[in-house]
Amino acid sequence: MEFSFNLWLEYLIRFAHVVAGIAWIGSSFYFIWLDGAFTAPEKPRHNVDGEVFMVHGGFYYQVEKKKIAPGELPKTLHWFKWEATLTWITGILLLVVVYYLNGASLLIDPTVLRLNQLQAVGMSVGILIASWLIYDLLWHPRLVQKDSAKRVVTALTAVFFAGLIYLNTKIFSGRGAFIQTGAIFGSMMLFNVWVRILPGQRKMLADAEAGRVPDYSLGLKSKTRSVHNTYFIFPVLLIMLSNHYSGVTGHPLNWLLLIVLSVSGALARHAMVTKNPLERLTLVPATVGLMALVWMTRVEVPVAVDVSALPPVSTQEIHALVQDRCVSCHSNKPTDDIFKIAPAGAVFETEDQILSYKDKIYNRVVVLKNMPFTNKTGLTEEERAKFHRWYQGLSK
Ligand code: HEC
Repeated sequence: MEFSFNLWLEYLIRFAHVVAGIAWIGSSFYFIWLDGAFTAPEKPRHNVDGEVFMVHGGFYYQVEKKKIAPGELPKTLHWFKWEATLTWITGILLLVVVYYLNGASLLIDPTVLRLNQLQAVGMSVGILIASWLIYDLLWHPRLVQKDSAKRVVTALTAVFFAGLIYLNTKIFSGRGAFIQTGAIFGSMMLFNVWVRILPGQRKMLADAEAGRVPDYSLGLKSKTRSVHNTYFIFPVLLIMLSNHYSGVTGHPLNWLLLIVLSVSGALARHAMVTKNPLERLTLVPATVGLMALVWMTRVEVPVAVDVSALPPVSTQEIHALVQDRCVSCHSNKPTDDIFKIAPAGAVFETEDQILSYKDKIYNRVVVLKNMPFTNKTGLTEEERAKFHRWYQGLSK
């Protein structure tokens, strides 16, 4: 098929997104590790809380964890903020190219809610902004000063996130709801950095530069948002990858799957950073959660019609069916009103092309039943059974 400009654009933005994401998450993991690895300095030094010795690539590195005192400011200070920013920018571009353009066809599922492109994109952007405002208000530094308040706000946040996920799955297509949730969590991570973490650090820095003793409590306040960001990492990664697994995103209980996936990711993160060995047991519910998902998404091919009793179906017959029901999208020149290039590059014009896709076709048409896309071309149950019978004949 033609490799169009749009696909190249998507391909390259995706590449940039993945590379920036690796840099962001890599540095985040490194600092999580570093924070846990500090020991008291062998020779106590003024303002130094801990130190770490490392060896890498033939050199030795010594890192000190310290408070900056007035007049002690280094000339160059590394901030680690552009990895996050670049990941977010490329992520938003990808959201626009893949989900907002093209009639927002991957975002909309008329069987969930009938929306036009403008409505879908408007809701997606609106929910994203509103979610940040609510989350930021819940965790406003003035509201969460006491531990008791933090516990209440944590519970409220959990309820808010669960509601948000549910709402997304009732507005957007399964795939769209997952990516929308991932975009919201990812944006919260970036806004935490820019709106809550960096200003506090800048203020401390300005104080130190001006020869004042910095207000270290500012650092502790931004720590809450830093900690949140580390909890977001695994859920966001799981969500981003879920888009390749339509059995998960398209499940009738996809909101529940998404909640379990997010909670399991956050629990796994907790096990990774906690210093208390007992708290590593959070891996147990995380594993149970993921196992429950495996169980929930198991597919039992429903045998509404006993296909083995049907007369054999030839590839020629399937080819004819595919011409009727699939090539409006899956061809070199699709005639569909929305898909102008073959989705996922899958072209089914010849019998050979169909045969080379036989397993995927069986999976989408018979097992998952999510092709034709929103059953736009009106494939009937009898025709689905024909695909089933055809595949059965092939595998023997
Ligand atoms: C209205 C457009 C449309 C029609 C009609 C349609 N598809 Fe699709 N198809 C898509 C889209 C969009 C994707 C990519 C998104 C996804 O994976 O869900 C896709 C993906 C697929 C894939 C996955 C390809 C891969 O490499 O992962 C298969 C297989 C497939 N379709 C088979 C079919 C078959 C068989 C039919 C006809 C019975 C059909 N489709 C009809 C739009 C359509």
